[in-house]
Order: sequence, then structure tokens, then C-alpha cells
Amino acid sequence: MTRGCIQFRRRDRIVRLERFSPQSTVLDWLRIEERSTGTKEGCAEGDCGACTVVIAREQDGRLNYEPVNACIVTLGQLDGCELITVEDLADEGRLHPVQTALAAGHGSQCGFCTPGIVMSLFAHFHGEGDRTDRAGINDALAGNLCRCTGYRSIVDAARKACAGPATDRFAARQGETLAALKQLNDGANIFVGNDTHFFASPSSESLLALLFERHPDARIIAGATDVGLWITKKLLTLDKIIHVGRAGLDRIEETADAFQFGAAVTLARAMSSLASIDPDIGEIVRRFGSVQVRVAGTVGGSIANASPIGDLAPLFIALGGTIELRKGNAIRNLPLEQFFISYGKQDREPGEFVRSLSVPKLPPATFFKAFKISKRFDEDITAVLGAFRIGVEAGRIISARVAFGGMAATPKRALAVEGALLDTSLDDSAAWRNAAEKIGDDFTPLTDMRASAEYRNRVAKNLVIKALAEIAGASSGATRILDSREAVDVVR
Ligand code: FAD
Ligand code: FES
Ligand code: FES
Repeated sequence: MTRGCIQFRRRDRIVRLERFSPQSTVLDWLRIEERSTGTKEGCAEGDCGACTVVIAREQDGRLNYEPVNACIVTLGQLDGCELITVEDLADEGRLHPVQTALAAGHGSQCGFCTPGIVMSLFAHFHGEGDRTDRAGINDALAGNLCRCTGYRSIVDAARKACAGPATDRFAARQGETLAALKQLNDGANIFVGNDTHFFASPSSESLLALLFERHPDARIIAGATDVGLWITKKLLTLDKIIHVGRAGLDRIEETADAFQFGAAVTLARAMSSLASIDPDIGEIVRRFGSVQVRVAGTVGGSIANASPIGDLAPLFIALGGTIELRKGNAIRNLPLEQFFISYGKQDREPGEFVRSLSVPKLPPATFFKAFKISKRFDEDITAVLGAFRIGVEAGRIISARVAFGGMAATPKRALAVEGALLDTSLDDSAAWRNAAEKIGDDFTPLTDMRASAEYRNRVAKNLVIKALAEIAGASSGATRILDSREAVDVVR
């Protein structure tokens, strides 16, 4: 069955939309069509969080509340969800516990950021586990900028609001909402528009393959955390949009030695599997954008956008990952490093899409280190990212895969560094320094607003030494910002 509209739940009713521009954002719909102006527009690029709204979906029999940036999520992505905005939280004139705590704790001054902060905390309020943990609240708020109140009063208010069970009117009517969402999720193929101007959300992989082969000029979107900015910042007109989020590409499969991530698996869902390969990977994914970016952005989108500063690609290349592509009925696999040809150019044909990414676990006696260098610790784009997979036998390095982001026009292996490390003694610090000097053979980085070429070269060399020093047994505690940050929290 093909449905010619999108449908979502809003304020206990079903909204069906048959006519909308494929590139409409949720924020434009809210502010211009529905006239719900409580949700603000700040940066219009996913950074400030002023536009945060919550999307509720069924997951494993319960409602999952996810904060998203309405400024970059397209309207069509709402299909099958409940959309909740700041106007909806008060219950017959009584503020929501999160709002009460913020007001009582002086967590708002000019108030511009407040609707977004309320919505991020509303999602956190409905989360699992200990919701009063300061680090967890800091993470929940990493995508919300407040420039006048200061975070201490906001975080204190969040701890207060989240101290008890998550009882509010949303929890009270969970059963009813779940039943309504079940009805909305009819598994239909969605095609809204005509052959020259459409939003489509295929309901199976084969329908996706068919549609993309017929319209190779269409723009695929997954989370739209990149494509959303082409709409709001580059002001591009995207006439044909194919959303891959409902096409069955959202499975995570685990075998004894690898994970396979469907291209549409979100970073939030991939996080625990990736962290289980190595904690450094978990930490980098935790610093990937913000919660708002991770619940929408996908593993496939992060690789397909071929950004030279994307965080996943160097990690997956160092681990020996492969990519699976599909065009029509033809499926092919290739080592991930071969996918990136040059700046903005990938080994992907028109009408071909990313199906999955396979990411090997670490074999025995193999060590992994990865470091993301950015100007800000949270929610910042990488200047340089180094990833190292080093195999050791009897104290000697017997295998090395080293990859960097931010050092070239594509994410790339450091073959000269790898060659210099092979067959050296693990604790030979002169060999580490010699290998580090090979960075100059592997890369000629650029100067841009994130870092100068000189800085990039220097930091990359130092990362080689740091990775080897840590693998050889040096304590990472003295050098890692995370550890000093935790120490500050303990003192506090
Ligand atoms: P989309 O925006 O939907 O698509 C991106 C590109 O991939 C498009 O060209 C699209 O056509 C293509 N595409 C998507 N899926 C497929 C598929 N299955 N087959 C073929 N083509 C496909 N990135 C980082 O690496 N680290 C960060 O810390 C980070 N922080 C960010 C912070 C903010 C505020 C924002 C807005 C973005 C940030 N990003 C970051 C960039 C972005 O979030 C990631 O690149 C994300 O993984 C993109 O995934 P997506 O699903 O949203 O892709
Ligand atoms: Fe800044 Fe949307 S307006 S994140
Ligand atoms: Fe003014 Fe947060 S209260 S920006």
C-alpha cells in the first residue's frame, strides 16, 4: 500500500499532511503553519538547541522520548511519531516538574534558550536509570546553549526535577499513546508529491532500491543532520527527497568478531555496541554532536557524507571496517578506506545507496586508542581525529592500522606511520618518535577555521606518541581531559 500523506500525532489528535514542500522543516511547520511560536529559532543549524522539540516513538513496548533540533529535521521525518513542544507540557495550568524546578531555581534569565532547555530536560526526565547524575545531565544539555543564566542553576534544577519517578500526564496516558502510535505505523510506503517534486519514505529496502534507481537525482536523507543545513544555510532547493529511515536499514547484528550496522541505525542506538569494542570509541561517540544530533544522525549518513572531519570514518578505517552498497538488486562490499576517493567524491554510483557498515571487534592482543581534538570539548566538530589499532606479540608490534580525520581531503590511513611502527619493540620510545615524524610523509593538511596546518601536523605527531605510550602502559590519567574533568566533579 502506498500512502500519499504523512501522519503524526499531535496534542491527542492525528495530523495528516498531503501537501508540503519536501524540504519543509519541523520548525517552519510549527511556527508558520501551526503558529506554535514557543519553539525558537536561534542558529538554524542544529547547534544552539533553542528549537528543541521532543519526538515520542514506541521502542521495545515503551515510549521513547527523543529531543531533536526542529530547525533541521524535515517534516516528513515525523511520520509515525508523536510531536511534543514546550506549549504542551503544562497540565491544566500547572507547570511540568521540569518547568517548576527551572523557575524556582532561577534557571532562566532572558528566556530565549529556555523552551529548548525545558524540552531537552523533559526528554531526560523520561529517560532510564539515574537521571540526577550530573554528568548525565551535562550530556543531556550539551546541545543547548545558554548565554546568560549559567548552567549551574539549570543543572541543579534538572537534578531536582528528575529526583523522583517520571510521573506526569505523558506517563499517565502512555498506554493510549502507544495504541495510537501503533495505528499510525501502518507500514505503508510513503510517496507525497509527483515525479518531479516529492517526499518519499519507502517501507522496504527493495522499494528504496527501486525508487532511487528511478530517481538517481533525488537526495537521500537519513537523520538530515547534514542535509538540514543545506536547506537552512546553503538555501538549496531539494525537489526530491527519499528518507531511508523506514526502509528496514535499522538493524544492528552482532557476531563473535564484528558488528554490522544498518545504514539507518542512529548514533544513539549504535553507541553502546561501539563502546563495547573499545571505551575510546564510546567516548568519541558521546562527544559526537549532542543528544539531539545523535538521536537523529545515522551511521550511514556519517559515512556517506564523506566529510574529511567526520568522526566515525577514521575509527572504522582503523578497525578494518567495510561498507556495503546497493544499487537495484546488485550489492557490493568494499574496504571502507576505498570508498573515499577525493574531497566530496566517493565510490558510489548514481542510484546506489549505503546499505550497512561492518565493523570488526578487536582480535586478541590488539590494542585500540582514539583521540578527538576539537576546540570545545562537547558538541564541537573535529579538528584532528587519530585512531590506532596496534597488534602486539612478545612485546613487538606485529600489526598497525592508523587512520586520521582532519588531515587530508578524506579520512585516510597513515601508511608511512604504520610501516615505521611494524616490527619495532612496543616500549621503544625512539621508534614511536620516528613513526610520528612520518606524519609528514602521509599528510599535507590545510589551514582552516578549525586549526592551522602547523597545529594539525604537530597534534597528529603527538597523538602517535601518546597512543603508543598509553598502549605501552603509561597512565592515561595525567593526559586526558576527561580524567581531570571528573576530578573537578569529585572535588565539587
Ligand atoms: P543526513 O544529513 O541525512 O545525510 C548526509 C549525507 O549522506 C547526504 O549526502 C545524504 O544524501 C547521504 N546519505 C545518508 N544516508 C545515506 C545512505 N544510506 N546511502 C547513501 N547516502 C546516504 N559529525 C561528526 O562526525 N562529529 C560530530 O561531532 C558532529 N557534530 C555535529 C553537530 C551538529 C550540531 C550538527 C548539525 C552536525 C554534526 N555532525 C557531526 C555532522 C552530522 O551529524 C553527521 O555527519 C551525521 O552522522 C550525518 O548523519 P545523518 O543521518 O543525519 O545524514
Ligand atoms: Fe539552533 Fe535549531 S535553532 S539548534
Ligand atoms: Fe538567556 Fe539562556 S536564559 S540564553
